[in-house]
Formats: sequence, structure tokens, C-alpha cells
Amino acid sequence: PQPLKIAVIAGDGIGPEVVGASLEVLKKVAPACGLTYETTDFPFSAAHFLATGHVLSDADIATLRGFDAILLGAVGGLPNDPRLAGGVIEKGILLKLRFELDQYINLRPVSLYPGIETPLKNKTAADIDFVCVRENTEDLYCGVGGFVRKGTSQEIASQTMIATRFGVERCIRYAFDLAKTRARKHLTLVHKTNVLTFAGDTWHRAFQEIAVEYDDVTTAYHHVDACCMFMVTKPEVYDVIVVPNMFGDIITDLGAAIAGGMGIASSGNLNPDGVAPGMFEPVHGSAPDIAGKNQANPIATIDSLGLLLRETGRIHANAAAVKAGERIGQAVRAATPRFAGKSLDRSGLGTDEIGQIVADAL
Ligand code: NAD
Ligand code: IPM
Ligand code: MN
Repeated sequence: PQPLKIAVIAGDGIGPEVVGASLEVLKKVAPACGLTYETTDFPFSAAHFLATGHVLSDADIATLRGFDAILLGAVGGLPNDPRLAGGVIEKGILLKLRFELDQYINLRPVSLYPGIETPLKNKTAADIDFVCVRENTEDLYCGVGGFVRKGTSQEIASQTMIATRFGVERCIRYAFDLAKTRARKHLTLVHKTNVLTFAGDTWHRAFQEIAVEYDDVTTAYHHVDACCMFMVTKPEVYDVIVVPNMFGDIITDLGAAIAGGMGIASSGNLNPDGVAPGMFEPVHGSAPDIAGKNQANPIATIDSLGLLLRETGRIHANAAAVKAGERIGQAVRAATPRFAGKSLDRSGLGTDEIGQIVADAL
């Protein structure tokens, strides 16, 4: 096949550090698997916006469509920087990419790796091993809403939760198809149908109707508040979770925490139909508090790169990419016992050292 074309958006803060470590791993794994690839760097970030006023244009989106996949570190500046108010970076780069490239699935695995410490008592790798399928193009993220009488004492702000049958259904179908491939074949819908009686109802009916087509998959429904409780007390009840966008954002940070920290959690923003490239990124942000200190854990980004290679390889029938992605996944699991008894986010090892340990495990 043609060389795999990867667009790289290193971004802000620790983004360039963790992306750098993952590209070292790619450099090592590719020749061993017969994978040819080329990377192209793009500057989209808060820093680039502050320097140039440019966020991400429609022309940039068109350029990115020409790639097979996108690897993103993290974008975003300091939370209270007035120059970045209104989510200019988050909406202007991250959400624009997800929406414009119709990456309607945000796949976020939650797995406790060998040797990694979870803050949960008496839980092991056998208990914490599930995948969140987060709907990625609807819900509160659509930006529907606004103000009435803004700036007055009668100010009203609304923010609308959008659920379309089309969008909900394609996400639920993806989750059932995924559950079918797993050993436990169990899918849990997470929502808040007792309060969100419109959007929740659309989700619940679609879930029940589609479930009939998958008689080999067992199902459950949990309210999102109970889900947070179970993730801490009984994470073993989960195999695959399907969840709307906003709740998915929240529960996957919790998922990262129970699996050992933000530096572990990987994700893929997928268009499973292959009509646009996927974007692969750690669940974490730019971590301004540790940026530039060689303290960030690159495992989340290395794992995201593994996911990039497996998913993109599968869609484009590139066996070498799939193989390289599988090798990366194995190398991460082989490397983590080296951090025995530590939460990886506080391992005391440098970003480059952790990257090297994974590369050595290849
Ligand atoms: P964050 O994920 O950047 O940081 C939260 C905490 O986790 C911090 O204490 C940080 O040091 C720690 N952490 C994060 N990644 C780590 C790693 N790899 N290794 C070790 N520790 C790690 O979240 P935040 O502080 O809420 O957000 C900072 C900025 O990032 C904001 O501008 C936010 O909008 C943006 N953000 C971007 C993305 C993205 O680009 N995908 C995701 C989340 C947040
Ligand atoms: C994530 C982030 C983003 C989200 C923000 C930065 C827009 O928190 O990828 O989890 O809410 O999806
Ligand atoms: Mn998040």
C-alpha cells in the first residue's frame, strides 16, 4: 500500500512532549512491521492562535481530509486566559475537527495495565477492563442555545441537549457491533432518563429497539450518577458502555483515574464509515501545570497512536499498520510492570524515559 499519511497536531503544553515520545515509538515499530508512513506537522493550537489570530479554517479541514489519520497531542491554554475565553480553542479546533470530519464515535478504553496502581481498593486488572463508546457529534456540544437579557438581573442562559434518532442510532449500532466482538458481549447504556425525559427517551427507545437485533449481546441501563458510583465500587460490571457526549466526557476522566491516571487514557475519534480521517488523541488536555518539565506520561498518546494504526489500518486494509498498532498495544502492556506499585502520572520518570521503555519493549 501507499505510505500511511498521518497529520500531526502536537498542540499546546505537554502536547508536543507526548507526541514526540509517541513518534519515537512509531519510528521504531514501522520498519519491523513493513509499515511505510509519512507525517506532516500542523501548528493549530492556542499558542498559534495567540501569535497569528488563526484557529482552524475550512481550508485547513479540507487539507486534513487528504490524510489517512490525525494524531493530536492536546490543545488549550490556561483555563482563565481572557484571550481564550468562550472556548475559542476547544470549539475552534477540537470540536470543529470532530464535527466537520463527522467523527461520530469517541472510543475510550478503560483498562488497568499490569503493574499499574488503581486508587480503587481490592480491584485488579480483571475488574477494570471496559470501553466507553461516547457519541461525539451531538448533545450539549452542538452549541445550541443562547442568552436572553444578558447582563441584566433577569439574565437567562440556555444550552440545548440535541439527540437525533439518526445520530443516536448510528452510535448505538457501533456499540452493539463492538460488544459482539468482545468476550463478555455486554453493553450498558448510560444516560439520565429519569430527568432528561426527551433526549433520554430517544436514546432509550433506540437502544431497546436495536437490542432486538443483537440477541447474543446482553444489555443493561444505568443512570449516569449510579454509573459513577459503580465505576468506583464495582467497575467489573462494565464491558462496553454507550453514552452521550457530555456524560461520556465526564465518565471517561473518571475512567482514566481508576485506570491509573490521565496519562494512561487513550482515545480515538472515529468515522467508522471511513469517509473522513479519524483523530487520535489522549483523553487529557495540555496540562499547563506540568508543561515543559518532562514530567508528562506519554502512554496515553502512545496508546492512541496504537489505536490510530489499528483502526486506520483496518479501514484502509493496510495489514502492516494493523500489525504495528497491535505491537504498540503489546509493548505498552509489557512495559507497565516496570512501574510496579506507582500511579504512572507520578512515576518520577521523564516523558522521554517512559517513551524509551515502551520502545525497548517493542
Ligand atoms: P488536563 O487533562 O490538561 O490536566 C488535568 C490534570 O491531569 C493536571 O493536574 C495534569 O497535570 C494532569 N495530567 C494530564 N495529563 C497528564 C499526563 N500525560 N501525565 C501526567 N499528568 C497529567 O485538564 P485541564 O487542566 O482541565 O485542561 C487544561 C487545558 O487543556 C484546557 O485549556 C482544556 O480546555 C484543554 N483540554 C484539551 C483537551 C484536548 O486537546 N483533547 C482535552 C482536555 C482538556
Ligand atoms: C476531551 C476534552 C474536550 C471535550 C474539550 C477540551 C472540548 O475534555 O476530549 O475529553 O469536552 O470533549
Ligand atoms: Mn474531557
